[in-house]
Amino acid sequence: MANKPRPLVAGNWKMNGLQSSVSELEKVIAGIRSRPPAADLLICPPATLLARFAAVTQGSGVTIGAQDCHPEPFGAFTGDISAEMLADAGASAVIVGHSERRNHHKETDGDVKAKAGAAARAKLMTILCIGETKSEREAGATTARIERQLNDSLPEKFDPASLVIAYEPVWAIGTGLTPTPKDIAELHGFIRRQLLDRDKAAGGAVRILYGGSVNPANARELLAVENVNGALVGGASLKAEDFLAIARVYQ
Ligand code: PGA
Repeated sequence: MANKPRPLVAGNWKMNGLQSSVSELEKVIAGIRSRPPAADLLICPPATLLARFAAVTQGSGVTIGAQDCHPEPFGAFTGDISAEMLADAGASAVIVGHSERRNHHKETDGDVKAKAGAAARAKLMTILCIGETKSEREAGATTARIERQLNDSLPEKFDPASLVIAYEPVWAIGTGLTPTPKDIAELHGFIRRQLLDRDKAAGGAVRILYGGSVNPANARELLAVENVNGALVGGASLKAEDFLAIARVYQ
């Protein structure tokens, strides 16, 4: 690729973190001040911490994102949070379609597309997660699954500043298992071709993150794979030291 996109290392804290966790965030900020990685850094804490984290990270080079949004801007949706509210709280990005949302909340590709549309409406960068389950992989249905997820959830119009794809094999999330670099190269190459087919200009510059059991020990190998433009990190993003070690793969 002529212009390699600037990598993004994003941390998904999931349902972890209390007000006291701001100290971990401060360690990340101090770490990047002393040795900034050649990558964008994003932390997605639970919604209860968004406003505080956004205030603490102002001007630091770390940006703050959310983990989900409702498709509608407001209304009678008890317990839900809209993309506009996330932006109002200081988020600049939102994850949509994470496999835990797909599994636990039965979100469909159509729901994910609506959420991606809401994120665009609120001017949030969308991190759209896709990936196959263990049984889909074993049945040789991985690329078919990914193609269907892209067909059914990718917004019609996208640009590299506002869309990031995260390829996360479901069986690799939180398990310590990862695909081989060769598998990742194949899948990321496949996703890149799908994006290019839809938009020749934008498709080459959209960042494709790898996610699923990324840690300081395997990050160098996984992030060196062609068409891997960063990582979506779960468990290892909860410790500043580990998150920084992953981000510093990019120097
Ligand atoms: P993990 O999670 O790094 O803990 O496997 C990744 C994710 O769910 O985004």
